[in-house]
Amino acid sequence: MSLPFSQSCENNKDPILTCLRQAFIDASRVLEIGSGTGQHAVYFAEHLPHLHWQPSDQGEYLAGLALRLATSSLPNLAAEIELDVGGRWPSQGFDAVFTANTCHIMAWSLVEKLFAGVARSLESGGTFCVYGPFNEGGCFTSDSNARFDQWLKQRDPDSGIRDLEAVVALAARHGLQLSVNYAMPANNRLLQFTKAEA
Ligand SMILES: C[S@@+](CC[C@H](N)C(=O)[O-])C[C@H]1O[C@@H](n2cnc3c(N)ncnc32)[C@H](O)[C@@H]1O
Repeated sequence: MSLPFSQSCENNKDPILTCLRQAFIDASRVLEIGSGTGQHAVYFAEHLPHLHWQPSDQGEYLAGLALRLATSSLPNLAAEIELDVGGRWPSQGFDAVFTANTCHIMAWSLVEKLFAGVARSLESGGTFCVYGPFNEGGCFTSDSNARFDQWLKQRDPDSGIRDLEAVVALAARHGLQLSVNYAMPANNRLLQFTKAEA
């Protein structure tokens, strides 16, 4: 098996890191959902050494993810765990959760499970950062996002770029308030949510 690689991860890891430095400044234990190639996990664990980074993904991605994690020997980077948002979630709590490029891949019913699971896993006052493309005011924010959405739907009609307003409303129903909406390169956003203090 060859090492999984995503060029977009290489392109977006520094802009995302800039946001996470701020968003996770007071965090210590981060759960990453849908780690994919593991490039983000390795990079963010290396550059944010105050964080203990827990990568996860669905079963079929774990072998490739493990290969990537084995390229690093960072003490703050945990071994991959299996996490399908529609299945069982880890029992331990986290004070931060990160996910990139997952909401447009999952069916909306799974996005709902993602936010429900994050709300359960996050401690009060914890932070959830979601990176990816979103529509605003019911419209695509660029022609390239419109083409990307078309391509996604040809592969899987249940996938597609989500409406920012629907995601923010879903989060609020789970006690997660939008605290920062960062503009990112290539028509992406990084949404930072905060779980209300109990
Ligand atoms: C486009 S990849 C993004 C991977 C990586 N986060 C990145 O930014 O390159 C989408 C990821 O969502 C994950 N994913 C899709 N459905 C999922 C589910 N039901 N539970 C957990 N992860 C899921 C996939 O396994 C995959 O890792």
